[in-house]
Amino acid sequence: MDLKEEILKLKEKLDVTVVAHFYQKDEVFELADITGDSLELAKKASTTNTEFIVFCGVGFMGQSVKIIAPQKRVLMPRIACCAMAKMIDVAYFDDNLAKLNSYGISNDDILPITYINSSAEVKARVGEMGGIVCTSSNAFKIIEQGLKSGKKIFFVPDRCLGQNFAIKMGLKSCVLGDGTDPKECDIICYDGFCSVHQLFTPEDIDFYRAKYPDIIVAVHPECDIKVVAKADFVGSTSQLIKFIKELPEDQKVVVGTEYNMVNRLREKNTYILSSTKPECPTMNETTLQDLYDTLKSIEDGKPTNEIFVDEKTVKYAKIALERMFEIS
Ligand code: 13P
Ligand code: SF4
Repeated sequence: MDLKEEILKLKEKLDVTVVAHFYQKDEVFELADITGDSLELAKKASTTNTEFIVFCGVGFMGQSVKIIAPQKRVLMPRIACCAMAKMIDVAYFDDNLAKLNSYGISNDDILPITYINSSAEVKARVGEMGGIVCTSSNAFKIIEQGLKSGKKIFFVPDRCLGQNFAIKMGLKSCVLGDGTDPKECDIICYDGFCSVHQLFTPEDIDFYRAKYPDIIVAVHPECDIKVVAKADFVGSTSQLIKFIKELPEDQKVVVGTEYNMVNRLREKNTYILSSTKPECPTMNETTLQDLYDTLKSIEDGKPTNEIFVDEKTVKYAKIALERMFEIS
C-alpha cells in the first residue's frame, strides 16, 4: 500500500483538515492543508469549516484548538507532549506562587503569562488569575500589555523566553530560585526550558563566525540568553522562515532551531547551529502511518486519539487565549 496515495484519497473523501507544525517530519508536513507556527496554527485551525481537524504536532497545540473551538473534533495522530510543557503543572504553578508570596509578593501583585507551550490546566489557572497566553511571535506585545497592569509578570514555563524578552525590553528579570530577590524584578520566570534549544551554545556561534566571517546567525527565542546575545536575528519559527527566505541566495546563515524545519529551508548556504542533530523527539513521533491510521479511524466511524478538555478548564483557558488574540 502506498501510504501517501491512501492519505490523499482519505483527505479527499473526508470532512477533514490536516494541520502540521514546521517541526514535523517532511513526509507528514508535505501532506498538510495548513502549516505554520504555533500562533498561526491555533488561529487558522480553529476557523476552518471542516468537522474534523487532524493535528500533527504536540499535545498543547491540539488542545489549544479544542479550547478555542470546542465544537470541532480534534484528533492527533500522536498525542506527544512537548517536554517543556511537561515541566509545569498546576501544583508546581501554585508552589511557585507560594514562593513568591513568601517574598512578600501577594497574588494580587502578580500577572501570570504562560507560553502557549503549557497544558490546558495551566492556561486555565493563568486565565483565572487574569493572566494571558503568549507565543514566541507575540511575547513582546503581550508582556508590554501585561506590564500596563502595574503588576509583576510571573512568566511560565520557559525561563529563556521570559529572560530574552526582558532583556530586549530593558526590564529586570530573574529565574525564581536563582538567588535574586524577585521583589527587585519586573519579570519572574519559572525554571523551565526546551531541551532541544538548549543544544545551541555561544561556542557554536563562535565556531561559525570564525569559519565564515560574514555568516548571519538566526535563532529561536527559546535559546539560552547567552546564545541570543550573540545572534543577529531572533524570531519564532515563522519569523525565522521569512527572514531566511528573504536573504540573498549566496548569504550564509546558521540557524538555531529544530532540525526538520531548518533542513527544508534552503538547499544552499543554510547551516544548523549544532554539531548534534537538534531534533524535537516529541514532534518527530508522528509518522505517515499514524496520520493514515487517524484518517482511517474517521472513515471507519471510530475516531481515535481525540482531544477532550473539560468544561471548566476550557472556560478559563479560553479566556487566557482570547486575551492573547485581542492583544496580538
Ligand atoms: P513557534 O511558536 O515558533 O512555532 O514555536 C513553537 C515551539 O515549540 C518551538 O520550540
Ligand atoms: Fe517543546 Fe522544545 Fe519540542 Fe518546541 S522544540 S515542541 S519547546 S520540546
